[in-house]
Amino acid sequence: MQLTRDEQEMLDGSQGEAKQIAMKGLVQLGDAFDAKEMVPIGYAHIYAGLPMYVHDLELIEDLVALGAKVAVPSTINIANADIENWRATKAPENLVRLQASTQAAHSKMGSCCTYTCTPYWAGHWPSWNMHMTSLESTVTIFANSVVGARCNRDGFFAVYAAIAGRYPKFGYHLDETRRGTHLVAVDVDLHCTSDYSCLGFYVGLMVGNGVPVFTGFRRRPTLDELDALGAALATSGGVAMFIVPEVTPPFATAEQAFGGVLPGEAVVVGPAEVNSIYERFSTGSTADFDLVHLGCPHASFQEMKEYGEMLEGRRVKDGVELWVTTSRAVRQMAADAGIVRALEKAGAKVISDTCPIMCHFARTASPDPALGIVPPPIRSVMVDSAKQAKYVRDMIQCDTLLTGTREAVQAALTGSFHPRRL
Ligand code: F3S
Repeated sequence: MQLTRDEQEMLDGSQGEAKQIAMKGLVQLGDAFDAKEMVPIGYAHIYAGLPMYVHDLELIEDLVALGAKVAVPSTINIANADIENWRATKAPENLVRLQASTQAAHSKMGSCCTYTCTPYWAGHWPSWNMHMTSLESTVTIFANSVVGARCNRDGFFAVYAAIAGRYPKFGYHLDETRRGTHLVAVDVDLHCTSDYSCLGFYVGLMVGNGVPVFTGFRRRPTLDELDALGAALATSGGVAMFIVPEVTPPFATAEQAFGGVLPGEAVVVGPAEVNSIYERFSTGSTADFDLVHLGCPHASFQEMKEYGEMLEGRRVKDGVELWVTTSRAVRQMAADAGIVRALEKAGAKVISDTCPIMCHFARTASPDPALGIVPPPIRSVMVDSAKQAKYVRDMIQCDTLLTGTREAVQAALTGSFHPRRL
């Protein structure tokens, strides 16, 4: 790989040990993918260091001890506990303490401790054509597909990229990868983020790690709907980018997205295909669920406002637990607007820094009774997101009921399941 003088100095160690470790890792990554050069990045969304993986915490703390600082604006992904409001989720105190120590390490490194999978709703937007890195697939696909930034699905390497301010040029950093591979003809009216989530999950199963190009939407999807679509595509498939002509820069038409010529056949998605995903994730008892969850991906201010309107002046049924998850920043904005008060008055719990999967997986995957970390007593979760449904089922081995947001709110109010079908 061709390195600039500055990059070579980092690799040689003359800019400090932390940058040397970071650059060594990035060169290895680049060599593995045949990258010819590095590109400067403008933004990094990095791994929080999950308390459930103590070794990861040590890696981050070791880098900090070597003087690591982020070279570009950096935000932190979601973690295992809501540090401020941990009692609401019954998180073990020891887990919270471990997470608080990562917060101190990230702050020393100069990162913004957003602890969210939707840093863009918290004000951290990349720009068109900006090279960036993200370990969160929801951020990667949103950046590539909605903003037109250039980003791969990364792991711990995102931390190295943040420290070096560089990333090897391969994958979605190259023009040739940013082309449609599958044409998707949408032949159904979609009304809410949950419908887009089911569409995304279905198409992700069809296209694997391709780049689907969507046609046929009856109206321009909202930002929240695009977010839900991308999160689900990245969950059932390895999708890092989708294209909606006139939404995804710079593509004005489907032809342009394919480099000039449309493929002969399209994947057609109608009501039956969308409904198949609602049905796939509705296996729990309709009369017996432990938790209703809204806010996957972490809710935007607009979504918080909508939840507030649906719950204003009403009351969650006794015995039903309703979680709304969002970032700290959006939570603060919603608090300032009186929305958090309205949600809590209705009996909802507003949770930040985590989500049911991240919160409960820590306890399911790494129980440590000596530390008070034991599996949560949860058997069935009702959700409005196919991504949350898939991971709840796979990672905390719960039954799920997948429905629309409005229907999930109804269920929380009445205690009975309201299915959604198109
Ligand atoms: Fe975010 Fe948890 Fe969903 S990390 S995208 S709220 S599964």
